Amino acid sequence: MSLQGQQTKAFFQRARDVFPYGVNSNFRYWGEDDTVIISRAHGPYMWDADDKRYTDYRLAFGPIILGHAHETVVNAVTEAIKNGTQFAFTNTLEVEAGELVKRLTGVDKIRFTNSGTEATMHALRVARAYTGREKVMKFEGAYHGVHDYVLFTTANTPSSVAGSRRSPLTVPVSSGIPKHMADYLVMAPFNDAERVEELVAQNWHDLAAIIVEPVLGNVGGVMPLPGFLEKLRELCDTYGIVLIFDEVKTGFRLANGGAQEYFNIKADMVTYAKAMGNGFQVAAFGGTEKVMMTIEPGKMIHTGTYNGNGVGMAAAVATLSMLENDGVIDKVFEQGTTLMNGIDGILTRQGVPHVMTGSPTMFGLALGVEQAPRDFREFDKVDDHLYEHFTTELAFRGVLPELDCREPWFLCLAHDQEVIHETLNIVEDTAKTFFK
Ligand SMILES: Cc1ncc(COP(=O)(O)O)c(C=O)c1O
Repeated sequence: MSLQGQQTKAFFQRARDVFPYGVNSNFRYWGEDDTVIISRAHGPYMWDADDKRYTDYRLAFGPIILGHAHETVVNAVTEAIKNGTQFAFTNTLEVEAGELVKRLTGVDKIRFTNSGTEATMHALRVARAYTGREKVMKFEGAYHGVHDYVLFTTANTPSSVAGSRRSPLTVPVSSGIPKHMADYLVMAPFNDAERVEELVAQNWHDLAAIIVEPVLGNVGGVMPLPGFLEKLRELCDTYGIVLIFDEVKTGFRLANGGAQEYFNIKADMVTYAKAMGNGFQVAAFGGTEKVMMTIEPGKMIHTGTYNGNGVGMAAAVATLSMLENDGVIDKVFEQGTTLMNGIDGILTRQGVPHVMTGSPTMFGLALGVEQAPRDFREFDKVDDHLYEHFTTELAFRGVLPELDCREPWFLCLAHDQEVIHETLNIVEDTAKTFFK
C-alpha cells in the first residue's frame, strides 16, 4: 500500500527531478512510496494531487492556528498586496503588527524577521552582545532551527550517541556543521534542575544565554516539570544570563501570550514565528527594553530585506486581531481537549499502553509507555515504530498527524466539534482493527 495515487506519484517524480528527494525541507520526505504532494487546503482539510482529502493535524508543523486559507487572513493579505509589500522603510502595517505582539505577549520591544531559524539566530546574537559572553546553554532534544549554533542533539539524535545524562555530548545533527560550533554550547538535560544548576555554576562566566523550548514541541510535547522553568529564571537572574524562551511553536498557541502566560514566567527574550501569521511567513524576536536596545545601527546588527514585509504583516495583523478579540485559543483548547480525551479513551478501551502529553492545542501521543517522558532520553522508550504504523493507517483513512511521534498533533479553530468527532470515529475504527 502507498499513500501516493497516480497523480501524486507523477508529481513526485517531477519533484524528484528538481529538488533533492523531491522536497524543499527534509522533514517532508516520507520515503519513495509515501511522500505526499498537496494541491490545496481549506479549513481543517488538505487535498493531495489525487484529490484525496486529509483532515490535517500537522498544520504545517504548527503555523495554522485558524484553519487553512482562513477568509479573514486571505482578504487582509489580498488587500495589502495591492498596495505593494516591500519598501525598505517601516510600513504602517508593521507598526500595527508590532503593537499587537506587544499587547498579546507583554514584551517591551520586538523586531520582525522571516523564520523561526532567523529569530533564534538573532536572539542569540543580541544576548551575546548584551552580556559580552559567547556560550549558550541548550537542552537535549530541543530544536531551535537550522543555523549552525543550535543544530546539536535534537529530537532525532539517538540517545545512544548522546553521552551520559550527567555529562551530555554535543552531537551535530548534520554533516556540514563546523565542529568548533559545539564549543559554543553547553548541553544540558531538560527537566533536571539540579544538574542544570551545577552546569550553570561551572559555566556562568561564559554563558550569554539559556535557550529553552518551554514545552519540548519537537519531542512529543514534553512538559516542564513544576519548578523547572522557575529554576531557569532564578539562575539567569543570579548569574546575569539572558533567558530565551523559544516560542516558535508555543507562541500564540498555548495562550495568546504563549508559554510565558501559560506558565506565568517572564523570559528576557522570546522568539515567535509559526502561529503568528496563520501560515504566512512572519517571525519575530523580542524581549525587555534593556536587552533589545542592545541593537544599535552601525554597532549591533539586525537587518533583513524581507523583515516586516507587507504580506507577513497583513497576515499577522489579521491573525493576532482574531486571537485578541475572538477567544480563538480558548476554543482551540476546548476542541483539542475533546480530541485528546477521545484518543486517550479509545486507546484505554483497546488496552494499549500509552500516555498523552503536551497541551491540547499541541499534544503528543506516546505509545508503549505508562508514564509521561520527562526528557528526550525517556522519550526513547516510546514505541515510535508502532506509532508510525498506526498513524500511517490513519493517514490511509484520511486523518493526518505527522508519522513521527516526536511531532505533536496540532489543532486549529477549524477543527470544530464535528470535525473532531469525525476524526475520533476514524481513530476508533482504526484502533479496533490495528490493535486487536
Ligand atoms: C521551537 C522551534 N524553534 C525554531 C524553529 C525553526 O523555525 P523555522 O522552521 O521557521 O526556521 C522551529 C521549527 O519547527 C521550532 O519548532
